[in-house]
Amino acid sequence: MKVFITGGTTGIGLALAKEYLESGHTVGICGRDLSKLPADFTNKYPALKSYAVDVTDRELVKKTVHDFAQGELDLLIANAGRSVGSKTKKPDFDASRDVLNINIFGVLNSFEAALDIMLEKGKGHIVAVGSVAGMVGLPGASSYSASKAAVIKLCESYSLDLKKWNIDVSCVCPGFIDTPLTRKNDHSMPWLMEADRAAKMIKKALESKKSLYVFPWQMRSVMFILERLPRFLYRKMMGMKFANYSKDI
Ligand SMILES: NC(=O)c1ccc[n+]([C@@H]2O[C@H](COP(=O)([O-])OP(=O)(O)OC[C@H]3O[C@@H](n4cnc5c(N)ncnc54)[C@H](OP(=O)(O)O)[C@@H]3O)[C@@H](O)[C@H]2O)c1
Repeated sequence: MKVFITGGTTGIGLALAKEYLESGHTVGICGRDLSKLPADFTNKYPALKSYAVDVTDRELVKKTVHDFAQGELDLLIANAGRSVGSKTKKPDFDASRDVLNINIFGVLNSFEAALDIMLEKGKGHIVAVGSVAGMVGLPGASSYSASKAAVIKLCESYSLDLKKWNIDVSCVCPGFIDTPLTRKNDHSMPWLMEADRAAKMIKKALESKKSLYVFPWQMRSVMFILERLPRFLYRKMMGMKFANYSKDI
């Protein structure tokens, strides 16, 4: 299989790349800074192609995915993303713009590039890494929650629209995974999972073409309830739990 993963230099994307490479697939990854890759990674996996690409650069993403695919692409995982740092009540509009740009337009640019190839071939699988944070409006993470909500709905619509062209669409929504993104969090992270384990679970879910995969199951259960709570109750609960967030940026 030919697999392209955006945001493959660290964290979940890197763990996914390793997982697919060890299963014998040809893998392409991108990130803005390839020096973040572990020292021996490219030597250890000759079937890996890595590209220095910012996913917000629409033309460069297109050129890169085409260069990697050479007309054949089975799976694209739009994983690149960022979150804002500490939880604050006051929105940081510069950071918010960047989060929305990377997390939403990065996915759109990647899907666009992959679909050029997959629609031509009449088959393929596109995947976005959303988050459980997109299932509710989390306090202190407005732009991150909004970006991931957009990704979840984008994938839901695409999964309906693209079926007739034999394109599968999945959205993966992890809970807390131990990566550089979460290591800067200053709050508790229940059911924190290793990236390698998360990658194995994601790969398995994608093999069965799940359209929405929320994991781990404990977090899926919590989100199931939070999504369905009357919103006044949700606001009350979250307001009490996160009353002490910093008032500063
Ligand atoms: N960790 C969690 O608990 C968790 C939970 C739910 C969802 N997620 C989602 O999972 C995805 C991966 O996150 P992670 O936890 O693995 O974080 P991470 O270790 O910080 O990895 C983020 C990856 O995205 C790349 N990236 C960021 N901005 C980019 C840009 N503009 N262009 C190209 N690449 C870019 C980074 O590479 P460069 O820095 O080299 O560009 C890096 O490879 C994200 O979409 C995140 O929102 C994570």
